[in-house]
Amino acid sequence: MMLTQDELKRIAAYKAVEFVESGMVLGLGTGSTAKHAVDRIGELLRQGKLENIVGIPTSKKTQEQALSVGIPLSDLDAHPVIDLSIDGADEVDPYLNLVKGRGGSLLREKMIEGASKKFVVIVDESKMVKHIGGSKLALPVEIVPFCWRFTAEKLRELMEGYGCEANLRLGERGKPFVTDNGNYIVDMHLEKDMGDLRAVSDAILRIAGVVEHGMFLDMASTVIVAGEFGVKIKNK
Ligand code: A5P
Repeated sequence: MMLTQDELKRIAAYKAVEFVESGMVLGLGTGSTAKHAVDRIGELLRQGKLENIVGIPTSKKTQEQALSVGIPLSDLDAHPVIDLSIDGADEVDPYLNLVKGRGGSLLREKMIEGASKKFVVIVDESKMVKHIGGSKLALPVEIVPFCWRFTAEKLRELMEGYGCEANLRLGERGKPFVTDNGNYIVDMHLEKDMGDLRAVSDAILRIAGVVEHGMFLDMASTVIVAGEFGVKIKNK
């Protein structure tokens, strides 16, 4: 029997929660896959199978969800070192580089997951790609709202060689989508693979007006992939 994509997401999430131990400070990811992990952690706390967990949510949405399932929360200021973060991704390459941020939470995700001793990524098999940021999906870039057209144009110019379109992400009623940090997102649709990801990352971050981008390079320690074949665990 074929499993649905959501069932695969849940399988990957539950597997990742097996890494959670009582007393841990946990980075709680955002998105439809991470949601299953947050639910599961809440369930294990209620059952008394986990104790003394502190969650650090990567978005306002996850904060609400975590509170609703009874996970005690804190933040990076109080817990600058996190034991384990669990989160989904939009794309994962064979070296465990990621694209994240389709849900718009990339900045807080990068801060929290970057402060984690272990970062476990949970995906269904559809997220596995040869090259991240290629033609399949957009690369999200968080920018300040001030003169956003100027920044979007600088991004488009930078990535012109990759056949780039840079589109402001829209939210409700055609208004700009606003992140939890009060910023906008430009989605960069690229026709070609980026090649040297680190060089592209640095160049994007040098543009004034850019806050952060959705490439998570060399950050994941483990990727759990669920598919029709079962569950694969890839370690860095
Ligand atoms: C949120 O901003 C994103 O980084 C998500 O973690 C990522 O897009 C994966 O989301 P899904 O699990 O919903 O596919």
